[in-house]
Amino acid sequence: MIGRLNHVAIAVRDAASASALYRGTLGAKVSEPIPQPDHGVNVVFIELPNTKIELLEPLGENSPIGKFLERNPDGGMHHICYEVDDILAARDHLKAQGARVLGNGEPKIGAHGKPVLFLHPKDFNGTLIELEQA
Ligand code: CO
Repeated sequence: MIGRLNHVAIAVRDAASASALYRGTLGAKVSEPIPQPDHGVNVVFIELPNTKIELLEPLGENSPIGKFLERNPDGGMHHICYEVDDILAARDHLKAQGARVLGNGEPKIGAHGKPVLFLHPKDFNGTLIELEQA
């Protein structure tokens, strides 16, 4: 059911210093931070030959990554995103398998303008999984 790895998201305290690390030390192609107020994050997109990395910096009061950074003050891997062909069919299949879909179970429009869903990390080896319709 799952297809390509779309991205790995890393929560960071400071997008500027994390960007400098990826651009300078790791020599990657790094975007400017892009504010996404609807999602409570600033996002830096890093293009790799086979996938993307997204650096997520908290934006605003109730950022969804605020609590994560309280628990992980140095930052850390926040989620991985797999592509699926049909997000509603994927959701229904997962629910039938007993997996928990976060929120109200309806896809939201994610950082790339495509429908996304998140799956409970406790059901997937402690890893928050995002599904994005390809
Ligand atoms: Co994501």
